[in-house]
Amino acid sequence: MTKVWTDAAEAGLLDRHAERGSTFAYLPGTAAARAVSVTMPVRLESWTVPFGLPPIFEMNLPEGVLRERLRLVFAKATGTFDEFDLLSVVGRSQVGRIRYTGDQEQLNEDVPFQSVDEILERKRGGDLFRYLLEKFASFSGISGVQPKILLRDENAFAEMEQTGHRLSQSYKGATHIVKLWEPNEYPQLAANEYFCLTVARKCGLDVPPYRLAEDGMALVIDRFDLRMDGTYRGFEDFCVLNARRTDEKYRGSYETSIMKRFGQFANSTHVSDDMEKLLTLIALNCALHNGDAHLKNFGIVYDDVQGEARLAPVYDLVTTSVYLPKDSLALTLNGTTQWPSAKDLRKFGETRTGATPAKVRSILERIHEAIQDTAREVRSYIKQHPEFEELGQRMLQEWEKGSATSLRS
Ligand SMILES: Nc1ncnc2c1ncn2[C@@H]1O[C@H](COP(=O)(O)OP(=O)(O)OP(=O)(O)O)[C@@H](O)[C@H]1O
Ligand SMILES: [Mg+2]
Repeated sequence: MTKVWTDAAEAGLLDRHAERGSTFAYLPGTAAARAVSVTMPVRLESWTVPFGLPPIFEMNLPEGVLRERLRLVFAKATGTFDEFDLLSVVGRSQVGRIRYTGDQEQLNEDVPFQSVDEILERKRGGDLFRYLLEKFASFSGISGVQPKILLRDENAFAEMEQTGHRLSQSYKGATHIVKLWEPNEYPQLAANEYFCLTVARKCGLDVPPYRLAEDGMALVIDRFDLRMDGTYRGFEDFCVLNARRTDEKYRGSYETSIMKRFGQFANSTHVSDDMEKLLTLIALNCALHNGDAHLKNFGIVYDDVQGEARLAPVYDLVTTSVYLPKDSLALTLNGTTQWPSAKDLRKFGETRTGATPAKVRSILERIHEAIQDTAREVRSYIKQHPEFEELGQRMLQEWEKGSATSLRS
């Protein structure tokens, strides 16, 4: 049995159910504000699913490399390692405001310290990747296929003091995400993401602070769900909002599963601002040729599960077509996964956000300018990092094609 905590308070119990499912019940007297998800209000009746976990509990489970690594280390003698086992390993340190412990245990986050500067300056040398995965895998309640870890930066407390914000000294949780990659599979992935995030920032989207390691081997990103007092904001991805399992993250359309769904859950006075940002982000994915903008790569954040939800800051932007030349949209737009034309995007924007034609045009134009501006940065980075030349040039070509089709046609 697993105890589920929200905002560091006990909320309910989760257990295996029937052959392959699970069931969750709130503890008697749990306040409405302790609800685990905007999709699962506090109630007497339990929440049961026939397979796996309810989406909110599955949301942060590592996929890909990290999951395999944890399975190897923690699988029982019998060789079994299911989602409950995975939750029991990474449950104490998670993205968002939910934590998991054994039913008799208390919460204890206590993520080890690690200098982010050391990662950025590559002082540890070649074994950094393996060292970080070994040390931090079991603190990394974070989803995604690429290898990544959650860590607590030993300088975060002082650093933020300089900006006038001070993270509580008693804070024990993770402060940063470090994304690594398999060089043979996806060359220069960190630099690729670094420049895609730069385009997003220049488009006026909210992007958490991000830094690229000097040798391009890692991308370090500040957590956007962390408050200065050491507590967490709620975060839910669009798999959860659409009641989908992680393996269904490529199912759905930008119209319904993203835009309409956001409108249903935003519950906010800023909804039209956020819709405009969402339109910008979707159009940006098209122009950058990011074919991985699936349901888990969009999210909402909130301070109060019953209150306003805002569009989450931008994360996981990559020009995927440099690795998969035939790549196309992750979800459908206008009934197809082909890269949309500018006309398709204009119609999409006008009907889904209610923005005027002039407004939608100006959004597409702004993306185009941001891409051109960032392309100059890519060119100068290539000059200093010849190892990035081949991939960087291919990225620039993809951006040009994407802009021509989806922004300007
Ligand atoms: N800055 C951030 N703060 C908090 N949570 C984040 C942040 N960036 C990403 N996340 C969370 O971590 C998850 C994994 O990150 P990300 O999508 O970048 O990884 P990925 O391995 O590239 O994913 P994919 O499997 O889609 O390729 C996201 O789905 C989101 O839930
Ligand atoms: Mg992702």
